[in-house]
Amino acid sequence: MGLVDDLKKAGKTLLRKDVLQAPFVQEVCKTISNMYRLGWDERNGGNISCLLDEKEVADYLDLNNVIRTFPLAGVYENAFDVTPLLGKIFLVTGTGKYFKNVEDDPETNLGIVRIAQNGVELLWGYKDGGRTTSELPAHLMCHMARLKVDPENRVVMHTHPTNLLAMTYVHKLDTNKFTHTLWQMSTECIVVFPDGVEVLPWMLCGTNEIGVATAEKMQSARVVVWAMHGIYGAGKTLDETFGLIETVEKASQIYMLTAHLPRVNTITDKQLKQLVELFKVDVRKGILS
Ligand code: 13P
Ligand code: ZN
Repeated sequence: MGLVDDLKKAGKTLLRKDVLQAPFVQEVCKTISNMYRLGWDERNGGNISCLLDEKEVADYLDLNNVIRTFPLAGVYENAFDVTPLLGKIFLVTGTGKYFKNVEDDPETNLGIVRIAQNGVELLWGYKDGGRTTSELPAHLMCHMARLKVDPENRVVMHTHPTNLLAMTYVHKLDTNKFTHTLWQMSTECIVVFPDGVEVLPWMLCGTNEIGVATAEKMQSARVVVWAMHGIYGAGKTLDETFGLIETVEKASQIYMLTAHLPRVNTITDKQLKQLVELFKVDVRKGILS
């Protein structure tokens, strides 16, 4: 390489901005702290992945500088098809990392990775030698499923909200019944998640199987409940996805506060239909009578 090339490279490096100040890193940190404070993410519970814009990332990182590569895998090292995501860049929480610590040390607890045929290319983060969440199969499979339905989908969020988890112990694990109960728990629910929530029975987490099952459910709803474990949400932005889960969790809380008491009042199906009409939402079929 000649002197001119050397100077060009040095110039680019000097112009590159500090990734810790990038809006996508800062917003993930704030969201994660918020989730931790809500008590949803004990220990290393929960994980987030955000699809980033390559051009935006290039303002902060040298995209030709792959720090290391590791297998594209969850708890087991068996591969899965990621063809539609090849070359895409994601910000992903690290496996075993505590949400409590992310905001204070993003570079250890988060990673920016590019999906490649033979594995995950690390462009930034996981400073202590870490790697992507063990739920990577479910995350990437959900991204693929949601992008087919909504090309603007960017975020997949998994967390362990307390009341939702409690509800999966005492409520029938039937998608329609679960959705109907949640819709009745506060007026805003049917407007915020008219597509309802899909419910999966207990399954082994971190596996390709739970990834396939979750992604399949994500074709028809942005929220998938993992019985006795937690929830998956998907959306265009962190705010939208967080708000979706927050609304489901609030409804679950109302349910858990009232389920053992005599139900004197409720929101009727007729009233739910009025909300659907007023807010012109595309409501999931087969639930309202
Ligand atoms: P990770 O620490 O691998 O992200 O796993 C946390 C979790 O919630 C598993 O479902
Ligand atoms: Zn989990």
